[in-house]
Amino acid sequence: MNSSYFNSAAGGFLGILFVLMTLSIVSEGIYHTAAPETEGFMIEVAEGGGEAGAPVEEAAPELVAPLLASADPAKGEAIFKKCAACHTNDAASANKVGPGLWNIVNRPVATHEGFKYSAAMTEFSQGGTVAWDYEQLSQFVTAPKKHVPGTSMGFAGLKKIEDRADLLAYLRTVADTPAPLPAE
Ligand code: HEC
Repeated sequence: MNSSYFNSAAGGFLGILFVLMTLSIVSEGIYHTAAPETEGFMIEVAEGGGEAGAPVEEAAPELVAPLLASADPAKGEAIFKKCAACHTNDAASANKVGPGLWNIVNRPVATHEGFKYSAAMTEFSQGGTVAWDYEQLSQFVTAPKKHVPGTSMGFAGLKKIEDRADLLAYLRTVADTPAPLPAE
């Protein structure tokens, strides 16, 4: 190979190298302008989701106890109509589609006589050591199938915490002796 062939080959190689480097610089420029936008957006979503989403979603359910003192049992009685299709609320505490709810506040889970609970509810009771305190009831009634996956209670849920507070203020009166309101 003579030197002029080598020179033109080298020149061609350098030319290609120059084009590649230019392309890489240009595309890096494009990449760099795009990247911060994407990252900034993603961080925003992660933070927003953490702050606004978490209390409403599973992480930390909103406590109903602080609302009970000012909740309205009369409104709760009206809300109970949604439950009455399946549950009784009198002292006879007969079972219907669901177990009778007399004395339900603080009653151990899945212990009503004569009611055939789902395997999911029986397991949730942990041998009768879990009771329906205000927060358990509030979470269950918010989304029954989420709180007790596999429960046979076919009820969509009461999403508004004010509605649940009113309902619980009423449910505590469905008892021989109303359960005390939680201490502030
Ligand atoms: C479509 C019928 C239906 C409706 C409506 C319904 N439930 Fe139920 N409920 C059931 C069934 C069935 C069970 C038993 C669930 C199981 O064994 O998994 C149950 C179980 C329960 C339990 C557990 C009782 C125990 O002895 O452990 C509570 C508390 C309860 N329901 C409250 C309510 C409340 C409050 C409402 C209204 C906001 C309501 N339910 C609406 C059918 C219903």
